[in-house]
Amino acid sequence: MKEVIYPWLKGAKEYDFTDIKEGLRLHLNESPYPPPDFVLEAVTRYLKAGNRYQHPDLSKRFRELAAEYNGVEPDEIFPTTGGDGAIRSVFYNFTQPGDVVLSNYPGYSMYSVYSSFRGLREERVNLREAGDWWQEDMDSLLSKADRSRLVVIDDPNNPTGSPMLQANEDKIKALAERVKGIVLLDEAYYEFSGYTASKLVSKYPNLVIVRTLSKAFSLASFRVGYLIADREIVKVLEKGSTPFDVPLPSLIAGITALERPSYAREIASEISGNREYLYRALKSVGLKVYKSVTNFLFFKYGGDLLSPLLKRGIAIRNPIKDFYRVTVGTKEQCDIFVKELGEIIEDSNTEQR
Ligand SMILES: Cc1ncc(COP(=O)(O)O)c(C=O)c1O
Repeated sequence: MKEVIYPWLKGAKEYDFTDIKEGLRLHLNESPYPPPDFVLEAVTRYLKAGNRYQHPDLSKRFRELAAEYNGVEPDEIFPTTGGDGAIRSVFYNFTQPGDVVLSNYPGYSMYSVYSSFRGLREERVNLREAGDWWQEDMDSLLSKADRSRLVVIDDPNNPTGSPMLQANEDKIKALAERVKGIVLLDEAYYEFSGYTASKLVSKYPNLVIVRTLSKAFSLASFRVGYLIADREIVKVLEKGSTPFDVPLPSLIAGITALERPSYAREIASEISGNREYLYRALKSVGLKVYKSVTNFLFFKYGGDLLSPLLKRGIAIRNPIKDFYRVTVGTKEQCDIFVKELGEIIEDSNTEQR
């Protein structure tokens, strides 16, 4: 028998979540709002050109707009299929089996999935609970960085919602100097957190930043995102792809959105207001809730909430035992969630009495 499937692929992990078709989707950190009409109209106009490969000028336009949005140069931008496409391109092109990848725990679940697919050795550093926030353990990260090929940090962190390096140059420099390969900062929630290390890519050629239009731009299913990186890294990624990889409707959606990015800022500001509202409501139910600079909240509860909530048509995530993550939706959605959650907790308290 030929060895068609590499041994590490046989035991590879997968993205593990339960979805719902109808009801309240508070489990994937999506925007509760549909894409704006001006984006949908632009996409619709281009659909008739779906028989053609898009002209490379579109990809160029996307890069110019993303560059302007971030105050970097167009040749420091690489368009990708969502933030995940960006993360994958780094894992698949800049590591090889046996390499060590270093990340925080807990962290975005796809880092483990891609590590297992690439046969990488994962090292994880526990976040520390610090009052209402979670904090990275910088000393441990630094001490492990020099044997790691890739350091990947979701900043802000998913699932805790806490800020991590916060674009602090000293911390980024220290990691970039120690790591054997790349420091990947995943800024999927940048529009909510408001800080970015994008300007540092011109100073640290092994710093790579991930962005997505899935969250504050309300374009999750268009699968459009990008990397911000040194031009040499972008050049390598370009060589290994075509200018057609991001599908035409997604590219048009991305271009149109980045032409008028103010709507994403408005969504981020609205959702951040709702987040504080939900934070107070969850506290008033008696839960330990953590502060967040994202569109989700992390809270503690020692019992099963997933199945009773699902029965009531609400999906959230349970990333670690006794800890839950809920996406911040509209105010009405927050109200429904808190009401149902309050009833579930009350029922379980009554049963225990
Ligand atoms: C930290 C983080 N990075 C990346 C992503 C990827 O999102 P997408 O591939 O939709 O852009 C997510 C999505 O939830 C995320 O939480």
